Amino acid sequence: MPRAVIQGVGMYVPPRVVTNEDLKAFYDTSDEWIYSRSGIKERRWVEEPASTAELGYFAAQEALARAGKRPEDIDLIVFATLSPDMYFPGCGVLLQHRLGLETTPALDIRQQCSGFVYGLSIAQQYIETGRYRTVLLVGAEIQSTWIDYSPEGRTVGVLFGDGAGAVVVEATEELDRGVLSTHLFSQGAYARELCVAEPSSATRRHELPGSYGMRPYMNGKEVFRHAVQRMGQAIQAALSAQGWNPEEVDLYVLHQANVRIVEAVAEFFGLPMAKFFNNIHKYGNTTSASIPICLYEAQAEGKLKRGDKVILAAFGSGFTWGSAALIW
Ligand code: ACO
Repeated sequence: MPRAVIQGVGMYVPPRVVTNEDLKAFYDTSDEWIYSRSGIKERRWVEEPASTAELGYFAAQEALARAGKRPEDIDLIVFATLSPDMYFPGCGVLLQHRLGLETTPALDIRQQCSGFVYGLSIAQQYIETGRYRTVLLVGAEIQSTWIDYSPEGRTVGVLFGDGAGAVVVEATEELDRGVLSTHLFSQGAYARELCVAEPSSATRRHELPGSYGMRPYMNGKEVFRHAVQRMGQAIQAALSAQGWNPEEVDLYVLHQANVRIVEAVAEFFGLPMAKFFNNIHKYGNTTSASIPICLYEAQAEGKLKRGDKVILAAFGSGFTWGSAALIW
């Protein structure tokens, strides 16, 4: 059975840096409040108009180049986003066309912050069954256009950033590396604790005069509590599947929602923060893009080397969560 291995990683963030100070133009907030609660110092926001598929394209181009692949080599595109260009169709087909491809299958997934881990699991399954050999997995988001800039929007609005990450997942016959296992979970009972409920197929409320149109809602405390617990469980599932001790993992890459969540998970396992790669201070929460952006930067900084034992974990809206164990 072939194994799925991440061969090339790419990332793209828009050049416009928005600091916590800059947010005071919209919100009654402070650098102290944002940084002490989330670890975020700044994030990237697009200049409008912008396209999530286009951000994904930039990241995909770099991932392909680093994997030594051409677009024609791709057997399947998996595009994870909560902020697609259009209500439908999804960004996958837009990226496929932008890459100059004719009929390559393209799949969109809606697992929000867990999108990359879910997408990696999809790539792994197609590769292990022998159906496909090369899968392009992209996580990309433009969130600066859906956040609420009114005073009520400040708790959610300060957390999110725009960006994209991409990986080329390839079949390998070398069994000393690659994706060893993936572990997926979801719990729709909590769907309304973190959501953008409008626009919705259920109502036309967003058309009413004066309506803002988008309705982001987050129960921050509930999300925080579940994120710590569920990512801990997902990591434990990966450790148990591999028979690894928490200490022998070289690097943990967790979805970047809030550095306090990562600190709580590290404390739960009795691990130092040095085992966890974090860059939320620069980008905020980039949802489906956060893990591939971390992989890109961890590799560039020499913190991710061939042969390393790695665990990825994510938690987000749905609620959805999951993990992956791999040898880099
Ligand atoms: N600036 C200043 N003050 C603020 C802001 C702000 N941006 N936002 C809220 N406040 C105020 C509140 O109004 C409240 O004031 P009050 O005490 O006078 O009522 C006070 O700060 C505390 O507000 P809380 O909501 O209780 O703040 P909390 O300590 O819970 O922190 C936070 C909020 C940072 C959002 C936290 O709950 C959290 O991180 N939750 C998890 C969020 C998360 O991870 N989301 C994404 C995960 S999934 C995904 O990525 C899709």
